[in-house]
Amino acid sequence: AAAQRPYHKNVVDHYENPRNVGSFGKNDADVGTGLVGAPACGDVMKLQIKVDEAGNITDSCFKTFGCGSAIASSSVATEWIKGKTIEEVVSIKNSDIAKHLSLPPVKLHCSMLAEDAIKAAVKDVQAKRAAAGQAASPAA
Ligand code: FES
Ligand code: FES
Repeated sequence: AAAQRPYHKNVVDHYENPRNVGSFGKNDADVGTGLVGAPACGDVMKLQIKVDEAGNITDSCFKTFGCGSAIASSSVATEWIKGKTIEEVVSIKNSDIAKHLSLPPVKLHCSMLAEDAIKAAVKDVQAKRAAAGQAASPAA
């Protein structure tokens, strides 16, 4: 029925027309990959970032195998983090994403996936950099 509109228009927009769907090379030195799953429903989100030397996120993409809210949350996340620094994006809260999409309480964990995926992607690129730094200076 037309009266039944369970999703906010931002969810529908991001679900029907998700931004930044895709993949970067997982092993590229400038790429961070966050792969997280939601135990409650089994949905999985992969979010990736491209980071320049100064720590700016120059690009981001995602692949999400999950519900409409999870897809919309990852789409919003990729839009929000592009052009920010890795220090800035780790403070993005799932509640900000949920509010933007007007997610109901039962769908909050879908936006949690996006927050977790951002943090995991930042950790991944930082770990790669640390490892590369050690390899470059074995005496340290
Ligand atoms: Fe796209 Fe706000 S509707 S990020
Ligand atoms: Fe589990 Fe949305 S991610 S229902």
